[in-house]
Amino acid sequence: MSSVQMSSTMPVLFCVPHAGGTASSFAAWRDLLHDCAEVRPIELAGKGARTRERPYASLHDAATDVADIVQEGAAGRPWAIIGHSLGALIAYEAVRVLADRGQPPAQRLVVSGCPAPRHRPGARSNDEAQDEEEVTRLLQRLDGIPSEISDDPEAVSYFAGLVRHDGRLLSEYTHVPPAAPLPCPVTVLVSTEDPITSGKDPADWELAAARPVRIRQVAEPGHFFPVSNPRQCARVVRDEFGWPPAPGDTGSGLYLDLLKRTLTNVIYEDPPVPSEWSHGRAYDRVNRVAGLDWPSRAHTMVGMRRLDNVQACIERVLRDEVPGDLIETGVWRGGTTIFMRAVLAAWGVRDRMVWVADSFQGMPEPKPGSHREDARLNTHTFNDFIGVPLDTVKRNFTAYGLLDEQVRFLPGWFNDTLPAAPVERLAVLRLDADLYDSTMDALTHLYPKLSPGGFVIIDDYFLAVCRDAVYDFRRRHGIDDEIRDIDGYGAFWRRGY
Ligand SMILES: C[S@@+](CC[C@H](N)C(=O)[O-])C[C@H]1O[C@@H](n2cnc3c(N)ncnc32)[C@H](O)[C@@H]1O
Repeated sequence: MSSVQMSSTMPVLFCVPHAGGTASSFAAWRDLLHDCAEVRPIELAGKGARTRERPYASLHDAATDVADIVQEGAAGRPWAIIGHSLGALIAYEAVRVLADRGQPPAQRLVVSGCPAPRHRPGARSNDEAQDEEEVTRLLQRLDGIPSEISDDPEAVSYFAGLVRHDGRLLSEYTHVPPAAPLPCPVTVLVSTEDPITSGKDPADWELAAARPVRIRQVAEPGHFFPVSNPRQCARVVRDEFGWPPAPGDTGSGLYLDLLKRTLTNVIYEDPPVPSEWSHGRAYDRVNRVAGLDWPSRAHTMVGMRRLDNVQACIERVLRDEVPGDLIETGVWRGGTTIFMRAVLAAWGVRDRMVWVADSFQGMPEPKPGSHREDARLNTHTFNDFIGVPLDTVKRNFTAYGLLDEQVRFLPGWFNDTLPAAPVERLAVLRLDADLYDSTMDALTHLYPKLSPGGFVIIDDYFLAVCRDAVYDFRRRHGIDDEIRDIDGYGAFWRRGY
């Protein structure tokens, strides 16, 4: 975002997360709405960056805190607020607190994934469950356990405790109908298949708002749709606020959207190949979208959100005219690099290359000098699956009509190919080779070629070996650019100017 765009008239959109959620639930919204609003996800006390703070004693406490944050953060600028699930009620009450203080009203309040308050008192509904096991079961049913902790019983139990506390805020909350209409327009955002709101009339929010409300729908299964499908939510939000459609919502954007669905194959739903971390044998949409399974046929295993991130990074360097090509080190069937080429095609870019670097025979066997964790992991034992020949990757590019002179292959082990690779400058450097040595090789030989303002994307940041390589490299080179989470698994940073 340039300082010109971030003008004092650009509205601030505050976002309040769901029960147990952190500010990162709205992380993807920043890029999706960057041209219309400054998105500010709110961290609630006791969560995320505010873990050490005492959690709220009541929902009204939470609303007062959010009102303080909004009042200080808006600082005279136009503002709006969206809250999801529990966050919707907090946002609603915060709007009332600010009205009582005589503060300038919001441009709009968006209450998302939340039944109207009249459905609360006395009716102990699903998300008010008190018992921790019950909460865990409910979260499992709603796919509400963050993927990065789902295999760690202690972390799941801690998380369930947080949600249980939030559930108590909800069950102890008493709604007092307003004496006057809310001072701002209200939109109720629901999803077609949300088990929490299903059967409850969204128009009942009119009683709580004391004014007519607008009702908007997204077509996304599950309760956590602002996280699982931020793009579609952002599209609706743009429309509600009268903001222009994103480039992604027009012809070329729809092409890229379809391509992401095709490359991850959320369309024909191929089953996964059983692996150490994904035991299910049936196709599971949540795993596929999150890039947590090994697809038997799809052309990428990185999932939808990490492809969204690839798109956002490329579009950002194009917009900011950051010079350089795009590269992925570790491409498997080629899906992510096919998508990189497609983004260039969608924007009519002819002067940048996509570099496709891989052994095209799988992971390296550990050697005497290999990092000890790489040696322990023995990932080469999966090479029957991980090793994809160069011809197959080229055929995959061809299948999408995207194999041309803007695609260059670097076949071989990174420590052989990357030191002398004929890559001059890079704008996006994407690493997806899992291991310490492979990550370190790519950073060592390619990071010096990354332009200031370019992006480094680490697909496997969640894996300790890979993260160690990133930390060691950054420490050695004094890099302190902020690392940003993508989807709880991958991360990225932007090289400082
Ligand atoms: C997890 S897969 C990449 C997934 C891919 N980015 C996608 O979109 O689905 C890891 C890839 O890294 C490659 N790889 C790992 N270490 C390597 C090395 N040192 N040299 C060359 N290729 C390597 C493997 O051959 C494999 O194709």
